[in-house]
Amino acid sequence: MASSRSLALALLFSLLSCYASVPSLASSDGFLQCLSAAIPKQLLYTQSSPSFTSVLVSSIRNPKFSTPGTVRPLCIVTPTNASHVQAAVVCGRRNDVRVRVRSGGHDYEGLSYRSARPEVFAVVDLANLRSVRVDQKAATAWVDSGATLGELYYAISKASRLLAFPAGLCPTIGVGGHFSGGGFGMLLRKYGVAIDNVLDATLVDANGKLLDKQAMGTDVFWAIRGGGGESFGIVLSWKVKLVPVPPAVTMFSVTKSVDEGAVDILTRWQEVAPALPEDLFIRVLAQKQVANFESMYLGTPDTLLPLMRSRFPELGLNRTHCKEMTWIQSVPYIYLGSAATVEDILNRTTATRSFSKATSDYVRRAIPKDVWVKIFAWLAKPDAGLMIMDPYGGKIGSLPDSATPFPHRGGVLYNIQYMNFWSAATDGSAQMRWLRDFYAFMGPYVSSNPREAYVNYRDLDLGQNVVVGNVTSYLAGKVWGEKYFKGNFRRLAVAKGKVDPNNYFRNEQSIPPLLTTK
Ligand SMILES: Cc1cc2nc3c(=O)[nH]c(=O)nc-3n(C[C@H](O)[C@H](O)[C@H](O)COP(=O)(O)OP(=O)(O)OC[C@H]3O[C@@H](n4cnc5c(N)ncnc54)[C@H](O)[C@@H]3O)c2cc1C
Ligand SMILES: *[C@@H]1O[C@H](CO)[C@@H](O)[C@H](O)[C@H]1NC(C)=O
Ligand SMILES: *[C@@H]1O[C@H](CO)[C@@H](O)[C@H](O)[C@H]1NC(C)=O
Ligand SMILES: *[C@@H]1O[C@H](CO)[C@@H](O)[C@H](O)[C@H]1NC(C)=O
Ligand SMILES: *[C@@H]1O[C@H](CO)[C@@H](O)[C@H](O)[C@H]1NC(C)=O
Repeated sequence: MASSRSLALALLFSLLSCYASVPSLASSDGFLQCLSAAIPKQLLYTQSSPSFTSVLVSSIRNPKFSTPGTVRPLCIVTPTNASHVQAAVVCGRRNDVRVRVRSGGHDYEGLSYRSARPEVFAVVDLANLRSVRVDQKAATAWVDSGATLGELYYAISKASRLLAFPAGLCPTIGVGGHFSGGGFGMLLRKYGVAIDNVLDATLVDANGKLLDKQAMGTDVFWAIRGGGGESFGIVLSWKVKLVPVPPAVTMFSVTKSVDEGAVDILTRWQEVAPALPEDLFIRVLAQKQVANFESMYLGTPDTLLPLMRSRFPELGLNRTHCKEMTWIQSVPYIYLGSAATVEDILNRTTATRSFSKATSDYVRRAIPKDVWVKIFAWLAKPDAGLMIMDPYGGKIGSLPDSATPFPHRGGVLYNIQYMNFWSAATDGSAQMRWLRDFYAFMGPYVSSNPREAYVNYRDLDLGQNVVVGNVTSYLAGKVWGEKYFKGNFRRLAVAKGKVDPNNYFRNEQSIPPLLTTK
């Protein structure tokens, strides 16, 4: 056992030293020297620093990518000032060392802190750049990328309990990565995707220049709002429009097993949920033989109950299911459970999580009842995972597909996220096989040409960049890029060609530059 482990380690080291010679060690040295000259020493962690590992794992959400064998960064920079971010990019360019940027570290494939292929790179970790400045009168806020969603929501609620922001459910998600891919949660039907509510931003480009909206230009400002992380530069801050919420919202959760009619109710939900008034959001978690209908309503039970009786009587909602609370109380309630407090959403330390794999689909035509019977048979298998279904319609569906890079708008009934989990005790192959086989089974029932996917639920199985010469190939990128961005992929590639024609910022699924004369 011990000897096979040391053999594996020796192999790993020899591989790593091969990788390290891809750009020569001299350029790594030059990079570190350049950084030391520009950034306080205590903000720089090389692999030999005693706290390198603890800083690296500090925001790793999927422990799958902290196992030995993961390609780790040469060093981690933790800027406290925009000028440090600029210096990291300038030093990287000068010495041929790429940087990957990390905000909250929730990337499903870990691309903000690991490389799927041999590569020498550094991580710029924005966790220290996390202020939130709310202007209550204007109902706007500037939020730094390193803030978590919990920190953003909390700061808004301190300024006003009648203001909110429409973004994801998990409070430890980083603003930087989340906004870069769109970002949606319980307010999506009323207020759309997070990036539908972004008014301005600051970006460090591949030349190390700090650009505001004016300086980056229309195409790049369009591209950073949903075109995926890493591609266009490092977004430092975002100005967002806050949205009104009532003094109390109503939450409910109703569970139906297959024996209690889950198949019929879910079949009906597909048509009902996307067409409800925008104030009502009902999502579904399906696992094993149970469908859990989780809801937030921007109003009180007095108006919710008659609405449910007329539009979705099959669910059998009554007053005992309903819990009234403020919008900010709903944040811990949904994600951390009814015992959690509002302050708990500020906790950046996530409990040790299981290993996971996820992927996504969009549904544009309701799936027939007989197929739902088969889906529940898939969910009953050993090693099965779960499905999370978020209904669209309302505001999210009302904008044209080209309004932002996020193209899953008009005509989408709902998004599906498939997830599976396992512990360190197994290699996860059975769980990943279930996920891939189930995804293949679902093919005929979901969107096609392209089969759409949500970039924030990143899945490298959908395709990876191919480097041709010195840049990632546009044609190869279309394979995964059109799933995430549909017809917007080309415009993203053109924007990339303008802001980063040398393709300095890149990862396995970054936008390739398309250089056009027009
Ligand atoms: C537990 C969990 C729950 C989730 N729930 C939701 C949800 O409710 N709704 C939803 O929409 N999504 C959800 N997601 C997906 C989440 O939105 C994405 O994983 C998102 O990209 C995470 O952002 P991050 O900053 O935490 O990640 P990171 O890993 O830091 O970054 C993700 C990607 O963006 C790049 N990036 C990070 N910061 C910047 C920046 N400042 N400038 C440019 N590029 C940057 C990174 O290099 C990487 O490629 C969830 C994910 C997890 C793990
Ligand atoms: C960053 O550094 C600049 C220049 O030294 C300084 O003016 C600015 O106040 C600093 N910003 C922060 C947030 O510390
Ligand atoms: C409300 O629904 C619950 C769960 O279905 C049920 O136990 C309860 O009896 C119902 N209450 C009323 C007043 O109908
Ligand atoms: C933060 O969450 C972690 C993981 O759940 C927990 O161990 C820790 O006690 C929490 N910290 C605070 C201050 O609540
Ligand atoms: C490859 O790109 C890097 C920077 O992105 C540049 O410095 C280098 O000269 C390029 N090499 C070739 C062969 O084009």
